Amino acid sequence: MAKAKQIFACTSCGGVQTKWLGKCPDCGAWDSLVAERLTPKAKTDPRADATKAWTAASHDGPGPDLPAPATGARSIASVDPNAGQLAHRIATGLGELDRVLGGGIVPGSAVLVGGDPGIGKSTLLLQAAGALAMRGHRVLYVSSEESAEQVQMRAARLGVAEQAELFVLSDTSLARIGEQAGRVLGSSDDLDTDDASPAPGTHKPPVMIIDSVQMIYNPELDAFPGSLTQLRRCTAELVFMAKATGAAVIMVGHVTKDGILAGPRLLEHLVDAVLYFEGDRYHAHRIVRAVKNRFGSTLELGLFEMTGSGLREAPHGVLIAAAGGGADAPPRPGTVVCPVQTGTRTLLVEIQALTATGFPGAVKRKSAGLDASRLAMLIAVLEQHAGLRLADRDIFASVVGGIKVAEPAADLALLLAIAGAQMKRALPPRSCAIGEVGLGGEVRPVAQLDQRLLEAARLGFTTILVPKGQRVTLPKRPKDATEPAPTILAVADVMAAIDQLATVPKAAARAAT
Ligand code: TYD
Ligand code: MG
Repeated sequence: MAKAKQIFACTSCGGVQTKWLGKCPDCGAWDSLVAERLTPKAKTDPRADATKAWTAASHDGPGPDLPAPATGARSIASVDPNAGQLAHRIATGLGELDRVLGGGIVPGSAVLVGGDPGIGKSTLLLQAAGALAMRGHRVLYVSSEESAEQVQMRAARLGVAEQAELFVLSDTSLARIGEQAGRVLGSSDDLDTDDASPAPGTHKPPVMIIDSVQMIYNPELDAFPGSLTQLRRCTAELVFMAKATGAAVIMVGHVTKDGILAGPRLLEHLVDAVLYFEGDRYHAHRIVRAVKNRFGSTLELGLFEMTGSGLREAPHGVLIAAAGGGADAPPRPGTVVCPVQTGTRTLLVEIQALTATGFPGAVKRKSAGLDASRLAMLIAVLEQHAGLRLADRDIFASVVGGIKVAEPAADLALLLAIAGAQMKRALPPRSCAIGEVGLGGEVRPVAQLDQRLLEAARLGFTTILVPKGQRVTLPKRPKDATEPAPTILAVADVMAAIDQLATVPKAAARAAT
């Protein structure tokens, strides 16, 4: 028998080396190579076992009655956009998740969901599975980490344990999963017992959820369960199975301590969409965002709240503020609210800053959820154009609730938070700030200003700082509105914005802390 060959595979890019190296020559990652064995008999066709097992166990043959993808070259003018699988998107029933997916899961596609342990990936997917089952889709929830009883207990807590179309399987072997999936998802006959042949289009594409893909293994491969070889091959087989059967496959992937999916490039290339489920574990808000999506935008963001009975979709307009914060909280120096745009949705988030005495020459500048170079730039602008002395100050800045804010429209709010923290001043109550800050200290126009104003006004903000010179359409107010219309303060530069910071009365400041 041929001898197994030792190889070293990179956990980051999947590159294979013949000897161990401290740095992967392919992707440049440090300390990422791990030893693996490669047997010469290992099959190279990734589409083997799972799909075969499915086909053998299924009553209906390879897949549901979805249009088969046309083969051969065609004139683009002759392609019917409604003939493909894209037109059959499956809405999960969780609106926030659907929006991030681009309107729903595409049959035959593979989605990878990453996130820190304990953030709520299993909760999200089991809830989605329940919602799908309720809408008449057959769903197989494969738990490779928990027993069927554990899954049932969670399902009961989430209120989806009564769904007859939701199947649970606790297994880690790829062939068994393929076979069981074929048995429950690949047959529509016992689904519609009265209908011998369901009318075309009534058969709803099935969905399979794999929680998590890291534990799935193929015994044919001479590699440990959990190894890169297994992960790569099993994911490829599952993706192929999705394509071959028309079932949508959602896989959970674990995130490494650096916050990237294990083997990021490796798995991300294989699947159609990569979602991240994230948030601050100590804060109820959870965010779903797409980092890759072949079928939709990656700008959209889904917002949930973790409750005792699962995830609740956040209402459309929300303010994410620290405990005790909110639109009508007394002003606190160092915190400024900003309406940030995430795809089609506006979120009001609280940006916080703190300045403290630091060692000259070794000051700390730390940010969470904000771009560090943007923070450095705004500190320089404050020094040069607002006369603030920050060279010997430690500066910390963060976004409340684990939200990441990347857009420049939040510059003004961050700048005012730093200035407010340093000067111990705050914007008047119920204020928020919108604007990009330039290197000359000027406040620049932002995209989608009207939508930001609308959301801010709806959430009770009455003083809104906006860039001077940008056309403002004030949101329409209902006739019976009792609150005064929001005051729009157009600021041309950072000095004009800082002038709006006022000393906070002692009593209010004490109440706020
Ligand atoms: P889980 O979905 O198991 O996380 P993951 O699969 O990402 O590791 O969720 C873990 C946390 O969610 C756990 O700490 C308990 C909490 N949780 C709730 O607060 N409410 C609920 O209804 C459920 C099911 C979980
Ligand atoms: Mg889990």
